[in-house]
Amino acid sequence: MKLLFIADIVGQPGRRAVKELVPRLRQQYRVDLVVANAENSAGGSGITVKTAEEIFSAGVDIMTSGDHLWDQKEVMDLLASERRFVRPLNYPAGTPGQGSVIFEAEGLPPVAVLNLQGRTFMPALENPFHAALAEVERLRRTTRVIFVDFHAEATSEKVALGRMLDGQVSAIVGTHTHVQTADEQIFPGGTAFLCDGGFTGPHESVIGREIEPIIRRFMTNMPQKFEVAKGRVLLQGALVEIDEQTGRAKGIQRVSEAL
Ligand SMILES: [Fe+2]
Ligand SMILES: [Fe+2]
Repeated sequence: MKLLFIADIVGQPGRRAVKELVPRLRQQYRVDLVVANAENSAGGSGITVKTAEEIFSAGVDIMTSGDHLWDQKEVMDLLASERRFVRPLNYPAGTPGQGSVIFEAEGLPPVAVLNLQGRTFMPALENPFHAALAEVERLRRTTRVIFVDFHAEATSEKVALGRMLDGQVSAIVGTHTHVQTADEQIFPGGTAFLCDGGFTGPHESVIGREIEPIIRRFMTNMPQKFEVAKGRVLLQGALVEIDEQTGRAKGIQRVSEAL
């Protein structure tokens, strides 16, 4: 089976890329399941019911998130009732929402999607390594086809988690840094890995935002308004081919498609 993962959808340009490109990519690559990180889909910060609906209706099956989860208060509705939406698993006990979901569709094995958040240069959540081990063990009682979106800043943390889960999950793709890395590979145990999938949105930017205010911020340390940029919209992420019987990855390729 083939799974398309779409990295951080940023604002309206990112949603437009999803709407226009996902139907074509689904056909072109015979994609069975589409997972997308949507933490920046509403105006570049957070996610709302409306942006979620837009993304689902474009052909995305499951949405993941990250540290921008809380930027729109409407996210509480999604966390309460949207089964196709996952937030990082390693928020403290009692946090609304779910850290993983099992997707079921005709003609496919059950597919688990797990979302985790790193802790290096990021808010201190529960330890994602311990959380991942326990959750993967639980998910493997139902399925061997497991996809992980690890939303983290540090490449070392992402590679370490990937290596720890090698042989236990089908694929791990990193998100959050919005810069696509070129290290796609299959580890010896059969787990596909890409440190960062990049982002889906305007690339004539600083990771999705207008360039000038960001430079000004770095030069002056004064607060600036960071508007979502407009130019050179790309859909980025990864395409993973998975053996349905064993859950092992057969291939992984980077995706970077111009709108
Ligand atoms: Fe992001
Ligand atoms: Fe993030």
